[in-house]
Amino acid sequence: MKGKIAPAGIAVAATDLVKVYGFGPTAIRALDGVSAEFASGEFHAIMGPSGSGKSTLMHCVAGLDAATSGSVRIGDRELTGLSDKALTRLRRTSVGFVFQSFNLLPTLTAEQNILLPLELAGARPDPDWWDTVIAATGLADRLSHRPAEMSGGQQQRVACARALITKPDVVFADEPTGNLDSRAGAEVLGFLRSCVSKLDQTVIMVTHDPAAASYAGRVLFLADGQVAGELLGPTPDTVLDHLRRASDQLRPDSPATASSSSSPADRTSGGAHRARAWTGE
Ligand SMILES: Nc1ncnc2c1ncn2[C@@H]1O[C@H](COP(=O)(O)OP(=O)(O)OP(=O)(O)O)[C@@H](O)[C@H]1O
Ligand SMILES: [Mg+2]
Repeated sequence: MKGKIAPAGIAVAATDLVKVYGFGPTAIRALDGVSAEFASGEFHAIMGPSGSGKSTLMHCVAGLDAATSGSVRIGDRELTGLSDKALTRLRRTSVGFVFQSFNLLPTLTAEQNILLPLELAGARPDPDWWDTVIAATGLADRLSHRPAEMSGGQQQRVACARALITKPDVVFADEPTGNLDSRAGAEVLGFLRSCVSKLDQTVIMVTHDPAAASYAGRVLFLADGQVAGELLGPTPDTVLDHLRRASDQLRPDSPATASSSSSPADRTSGGAHRARAWTGE
């Protein structure tokens, strides 16, 4: 495998992660003691009802947000206690991000967008890795195009290439196919999977879509801020089955159901996190 991930081949580990938003009676316990390991060189999916804590988990393990308690390790680095400067460096060099809304800079070409994380880090692309990533995107003839001149699927593949260009320890993708039709979504998912199988990258993807989750080698399920099971070698049918059984267990008046129905006003789009993620700030 990749060799740069320390000893046990674990790219990311969360231990007893708790995240509480707000204070007092209105506080929301978005993560309620999550412990999970994500092996390196694998494609992981995270699923669960809306409000179950998927994005919160991703933000905390990616160093975009601080957990209330618990610990996070990326490779052999413990995130707890890192200074802001060290966290920024870690996000720039060790972590890649892909979001539902692509988040490309409209005035830059595809090539400039892909190179942006390296520019921000003051680094140059490794020519071999550049060729490999660009070949994998299938966008060699689109590099001079601006985002508005590309389809949604192409834009998302540019965003994936931008996430990969620093050779990160792990790429986090939050609903990467949420804005795409099924064909463009399949292209992006196929690309992410080939990055894992052929380029030995590690991808952790949040998705609502059983078909998307079936591209992963393993699905971790969250419910009400807690780990609620996992599936290895998922297929769309086995994922659906698991989700159905989980929602049967939650009926009729369980607290988890109440939590996942929090009003949209309670929830945030994570825009600040997204901005920090790809500017590296
Ligand atoms: N910044 C915030 N301030 C207060 N509460 C928040 C904040 N972000 C998330 N929450 C709450 O934390 C809980 C988990 O939210 P999170 O966004 O992690 O869910 P999710 O599983 O990603 O949902 P979705 O599938 O809808 O994206 C929700 O109850 C949500 O309302
Ligand atoms: Mg979310």
